[in-house]
This record gives sequence, C-alpha cells and structure tokens, in this order.
Amino acid sequence: MTVRLNEKFATPFVAPHELDNLRPAVSGALEALQKKNGPGSDFLGWMDLPVNYDKEEFARILDAATRIKKSCDIRVVIGIGGSYLGARAAIEFVKSPLYNDLQKDTPDIYFSGNNISAAALSELLAICEGKDICINVISKSGTTTEPAIAFRVFRELMVKKYGVDGARERIFVTTDRARGTLKHFSDESGFETFVVPDDIGGRFSVLTAVGLLPIACAGIDIAAMMQGAAKAREDYASDDLDTNAALRYAAYRNVFYRKGKKTEILVGYEPHQLMLNEWWKQLYGESEGKDQKGLFPASVIFSTDLHSLGQYIQDGARHIFETVLDIRDMGAEYLIPHDEANVDGLNFIAGKSLNEVNKTAMLGTLFAHTDGQVPNLVIELSDRSAASFGYLVYFFELACAVSGYLLGVNPFDQPGVEAYKKNMFALLGKPGYEEAGEALRARME
Ligand code: PA5
Repeated sequence: MTVRLNEKFATPFVAPHELDNLRPAVSGALEALQKKNGPGSDFLGWMDLPVNYDKEEFARILDAATRIKKSCDIRVVIGIGGSYLGARAAIEFVKSPLYNDLQKDTPDIYFSGNNISAAALSELLAICEGKDICINVISKSGTTTEPAIAFRVFRELMVKKYGVDGARERIFVTTDRARGTLKHFSDESGFETFVVPDDIGGRFSVLTAVGLLPIACAGIDIAAMMQGAAKAREDYASDDLDTNAALRYAAYRNVFYRKGKKTEILVGYEPHQLMLNEWWKQLYGESEGKDQKGLFPASVIFSTDLHSLGQYIQDGARHIFETVLDIRDMGAEYLIPHDEANVDGLNFIAGKSLNEVNKTAMLGTLFAHTDGQVPNLVIELSDRSAASFGYLVYFFELACAVSGYLLGVNPFDQPGVEAYKKNMFALLGKPGYEEAGEALRARME
C-alpha cells in the first residue's frame, strides 16, 4: 500500500518558491498537530488511533460482525454525515458499489437515516419485508434528527417482528461512551454499544467503531485497514516537505487557493470511488469551510462525468484545480473483444484491456485539462485493498488537518451545521424554539 503524489500536471502552474515559502507554515502546522497545541486540539484522537485503538472493542466488533453474518439477511446502518459516509465509502471502494447484488456470504447492507425522505424510508422498509434484519444506529450526539427518526421506525418494526428480547439481540448502537440520550436509552434497553471516542469528530471517525462495525459486516479485513492507516501514520510523521506527500498535497492546495483556484474537484476513474468522494467532500468541506474561507470541495467520476461536467472543467470559469485519484491496480481485467465485421470501428482497440483504455482516457484528460489551464495533482494509490483504503484515509485526514491550519481555521469544529437545525426545529415547533419559529414565520409573510 502506497500513495505517490505525481506533480507533473501541477508544476507548470506553481513556481518552486511558492511551495518553499510555505515550508515554515507547513512544519508549524504539523508540529501543532503532533504537540496537540493548535486550534481544536481536543479532537486529535484520530492521529494515533491506528496504533492505540481499543483492542478489546475491536475484538467485540469482529465478534458482533460474525453474529450478524449468521443471523441477518439485511443490515441497516442508520447514521448521517460522519456517522455513515466512511463506512459506505469503504464498502463500495474495497468491495463494490454493487455490493448488495454480489454473490456473498455476508448480509446486504443498506444505509438509512441520512435524509428525511419518506420515499427512501418506505422503499427500504419494503425491501426488508420477509427478511431477517439487524440494525446499527450510529450517532455521536445521539440527538441528530435524521437518524433518530429512522431508528424510531426500525425499532418499532423490530419489536413487532422479533419481540422486545429478540430485537435487543439485533440492535447495535454506536454512540458516546457515557453521555447522551442514545447512550442512556441503549443502556436501559440492553443494546450492545460501541464507542465514538470523545476526541474524534464524526468526519474523522471512519477507523473507529463508527466505520469498523459496518465495514467488518461486509466481510472486509478491518485489521488490515488499521495496519494500512498505521503505515501512513509512520510515513507522514516527518515535516520534510520534500518527501512527505500528505504535506505536499496540503501545500499545493493552499497555493492554488491563494491563486484564486477556489474549487478543488476530486476525480476518480472508477465508480467504486463515488462514495469515497462523498466522504472526502464532508471531510474537507466541514473542516475548511468556515470564517468565510475555504476551498469548495467538488467531485466527479470520469469518464462518466466527462460527458456532463467535462465541458465546464475544460472551458468554463477558471477557478478550479483537480486532484485525481489514480488506483494503479483495481484487481479486475477485461479484454475488448475483436469483431470481424467491425461495424462500430472499434477494432483498433480490440485485444486491449479496458484498464489500459481507462488509463489512456485519464492521460488524455490530464493533458486536455491542463492545456485548459486547470492544474492537476495526481494521487497514485497502489490498489484498493482494505490496507490501502486505511492508508488513504489517514493521508487525507492528515492533509486536511494541515490544510485547515494553513488556512487559519479550526479544522475540527462545525458551527455552521447547526444553523439549519435551529430553523427546522423552530418551524416544526420543538419546545424551546417558539420565539425563533415566530420570527421565521414573520419573515415568510
Ligand atoms: O462530522 C461531523 O461531526 C458531522 O457530520 C456528524 O458526523 C453528523 O452531523 C452526525 O452527527 P451525530 O453522529 O452526532 O449524529
């Protein structure tokens, strides 16, 4: 498992001194993280997590995954934001976006409680009919509305189907160690609980029980995933900007931001990366987007989106840079067949591997977009194993924290997320929000 930062398509846009000038700031940012004396330093538990995670809980996760595999056709994972994106990203990346349709000896996994859609909830309930289900509700605060609604619905369903005692065996809760409504309710009800550590925010929590339990249920080797993250922790401990790829990535992002490239697009060439992109967008968007600053994190999957957003990236407003994730070995191969009649004119690529054509599309796009004045960084990842996923997670988390410090923000809080919640509660008439509700209704008149 390795990450290599290929800078060939970025260097034409950055003079060497621009990176050099950032050396002291980059070293300072890493030192503040390592010494835990920068903004938000109460939330740095993710930094040493790959080596000092709770081994007893890890064993319980593996045990629960084995029990779930035996007793469930369907595993419903209830959570939103950092409480579901990492697990979903891992399952689609390491296994497949078609995981549920694959032949396998692990349960189907569906994600719920990450929206307020009646249609989505009703459809999932219909899918669950006649099937044996288990649920894993994940909420650090234990009070987030979206998962709370889904949990209420699935809890009722499970009690009806299995009775109170049967349901208890099938409900797994991941939440705060000691505080919050969900923790208290779980203790009273006897649900098995797992911990979201105090010092790890939602978007940095994929390698805690938040991500590990659903990921283990999909049959992914979570020990290898932790080993991958531990290797990245070791590889990115030095403040040498010449050799530390995570620091270089953070520095480039900052240089581009200062040059007016305010949008970063994470690019993939495999549909398996779609949810990783979503995880990355939350990580960077919630960490950097504050104090009226921050790169806007966007994402695409090529070549699919070359036929939609490709036009804008090639020719539209020049406020963009791209970061391409190049997975060197996807572990699958397909050769393009020869057709004697050649009606589609494709025989010039007959016998070539689809991977080669995909890589050629990538190369052609890199040339085209840089010719169109869009700088491109390329992150080369060796493969899509569990270990490489863990490695990549740590790479992005560290680069994100350093980026936040370079920008002068606290990368570990998310004050802006509260604004919509307050308004929604006020408009729904939640006790305590009456005055705010009246003020909003007056604004609508
Ligand atoms: O990164 C974060 O902290 C957020 O995205 C949370 O993960 C999200 O809001 C869900 O919160 P909770 O786990 O408390 O339900």
